[in-house]
Amino acid sequence: MTQIYPNLYQFTYVMEPIKLSMHQYLLDAEEPVLIQTGAAQQAQATLPQLKQLLGDRLLKYILISHFESDECGGLSVVLKEYPNAVAVCSETTARQLLGFGITQNIEVKKPGDTLKSSDFEFDIIAYPSAEMHMWEGILFKEKCRGIFFSSDFMFSVGENTHGQVMENSWEEALKISGIDRIPIPEMQKRLMEDLGSLSPSFVASGHGRCIKVI
Ligand SMILES: [Fe+2]
Ligand SMILES: [Fe+2]
Repeated sequence: MTQIYPNLYQFTYVMEPIKLSMHQYLLDAEEPVLIQTGAAQQAQATLPQLKQLLGDRLLKYILISHFESDECGGLSVVLKEYPNAVAVCSETTARQLLGFGITQNIEVKKPGDTLKSSDFEFDIIAYPSAEMHMWEGILFKEKCRGIFFSSDFMFSVGENTHGQVMENSWEEALKISGIDRIPIPEMQKRLMEDLGSLSPSFVASGHGRCIKVI
């Protein structure tokens, strides 16, 4: 676990043999927010560190970009410890979570929505084709601190990237973000436009090095 940015802690699990770093984040706000649960095994491994950071406080929200094991596979593990935590996700993910009987405590968000508390405000951004059958997932940007949670964009493999931060301009970061892997050109274009106007101060990556935007 590393404090990687003010109020932001990173937890990492490295998936062998591909050496893919799977990150989770805790936004240590008045109402604490976990971003991604990691897969079940990861959640089990990082839960003691999360509990250590939170002490007596309860986890309020768990943000899920899309329904995949590294994003929410550990949800039931985390909910065992924090049963009142609210999963914030797309309608597609909500259907999966309900269908698998994982949780009923869900707040569905769509692009353009926000998630606000006394000391944070998340903008919800469309993540085209992130969900199964090419449905739309969501991305999160915390506006008070300027943190963009990039999920599977700005992705790198082949090394443990825990605690690593590189510097880059937002323009360059977008060029190598992997948006070009989205199969439909109109979707690529829309995401590029949405992200182009974000100008975050920090990118908390789901898998690669984080980025301090210069
Ligand atoms: Fe993913
Ligand atoms: Fe991921």
